[in-house]
Amino acid sequence: MKSTKLVVSTKKVEDYTGDLLAIVVALDEQGVTIGEDLFRPLLNSLLQYKEFSGKKDELLLLYPPFGSLVEKLQCRRLLLVGVGRLADITDIHFKNELLRTTGGIIATQCKSCKAKNVGIYIPAYGGLAEIAYGEFLSEGILLGDYQFLKYKTLQKEEETYQGLAKIELLATTHVKAIRRNAVKASNIARSVTIARDMANEPGNGWTPSHFAKYAMELSERQQLRCTILEKKDMVELGMGGIIAVNRGSEEPAKIAILEYTPELKGQTILLVGKGLTFDSGGISLKPAQGMMDMKYDMCGGAAVLSAMEAIGREKPGVRVVAIVPATDNMAGGGAFKPGDIITHYGGITSEIESTDAEGRLILADALAYGIEKFRPDCVIDIATLTGSVIFALGHHYCGLLSNNDQLADKLIAIGIACAEPLWRLPLGDMYAKQIKSQIADIKNTGGKPAGCITAAEYLHKFVGKTPWAHLDIAGTAWDFTEKTYIPKGPSGFGVKILIEFIRRSNNGKSAISA
Ligand code: BES
Ligand code: MN
Ligand code: ZN
Repeated sequence: MKSTKLVVSTKKVEDYTGDLLAIVVALDEQGVTIGEDLFRPLLNSLLQYKEFSGKKDELLLLYPPFGSLVEKLQCRRLLLVGVGRLADITDIHFKNELLRTTGGIIATQCKSCKAKNVGIYIPAYGGLAEIAYGEFLSEGILLGDYQFLKYKTLQKEEETYQGLAKIELLATTHVKAIRRNAVKASNIARSVTIARDMANEPGNGWTPSHFAKYAMELSERQQLRCTILEKKDMVELGMGGIIAVNRGSEEPAKIAILEYTPELKGQTILLVGKGLTFDSGGISLKPAQGMMDMKYDMCGGAAVLSAMEAIGREKPGVRVVAIVPATDNMAGGGAFKPGDIITHYGGITSEIESTDAEGRLILADALAYGIEKFRPDCVIDIATLTGSVIFALGHHYCGLLSNNDQLADKLIAIGIACAEPLWRLPLGDMYAKQIKSQIADIKNTGGKPAGCITAAEYLHKFVGKTPWAHLDIAGTAWDFTEKTYIPKGPSGFGVKILIEFIRRSNNGKSAISA
């Protein structure tokens, strides 16, 4: 993985010599302001020529000589980006999001002029604004810079833009705090990038064994504890769900488990991610059209593992256990069939109505096992679980289902802060009734109505009273709301929520309290 350096520097803006210097221009009631006299004459003359006024999304790229007004500048290019009346935005999350999208615009400009080293001028506002400025602009630039080039061999490396090498935040005040928050942004961006990379790998490039290998290597890098459950372990443990799904495949299923334990014992949070490396639907085969997208059916697992990368670095005060049940869902000769009855970990039996409702089968085993073995104080699972959630919420909200209001409210608030919005859908006995089976304890589909909810009710059977939240990312794991810092293809949705949830559970109190 490419890694972009993000540094905070106190050097003068005049001394910055990189490929591109970006200045974010905000407006006040009087006109243009950027809190620095150095640029004011330039902006005034641009205003005069009506070239650039600092309105939102306005852009101007200048090359030297920059003219007598800013002749001291040594950068190769100067990029002005307007954000309009930033100070008028009272909603902090809205403001932060504007900074992220502005970062995305800067990254796009860097790409089009092949700039590798970019400087971001952080004006001295004399408030706390510059701390958020550094954090969210950086997040937007790093995420907007994302490319997946691994399989492009036809172009020569020198000809292809390889993305940003270094971002320098040029700050004069609050340098320590800016530096601290820049580290948070870079941890977030690294994890999201890893999740996108995993998801971009095709079904033959990212198998259950790749999940296992990644977890092993991560555990060595970050001193986590790693256990890989092999097929024989799953058989021995009675994990009839994942074993059934794996039966039609040549690729052996794996369950990757990572444990992070803080020095002082805190609460335990369990994260479970659906690692379905390709979902053909099995014997209940999916239509050919769009089947290719089912290489992304592992995005929940990718989110959980890549979040552990940041957790390993940040060393929070809570214990975090991550479980990724991984298999593909194929229609080989030994494949499980509609009508089969399976027995999950813990003994609940289930009648298979559709082999395409496989995600809940592998998650059920992982949830039941994880809760029994690690006794977590709360559980979050994340999965591309149902097409139904796309009918309900489109590609703009992720479905949230939970048996605990406190946990749900905390996640919704975090979703707003991270710009990964969640919308809660109900659970209830009337929905659970839809998955009653004539001959087994439950069945794996609940019919057309409320498919996202009946899928969650299936999982609900395996979590009991443990506070639990389920994130159905089928609509947001890719094709997520188009933004400057979110590429086409996998978005890495959920990574930020998971990391932020752990960060906010880091003070000795109950993990589910706000
Ligand atoms: N992985 C799919 C869900 C999915 C569909 C994710 C489209 C993203 C886009 C899941 O395994 C699945 O096939 N679900 C079925 C369940 C049905 C058979 C009860 C669905 O949603 O159609
Ligand atoms: Mn399926
Ligand atoms: Zn699936």
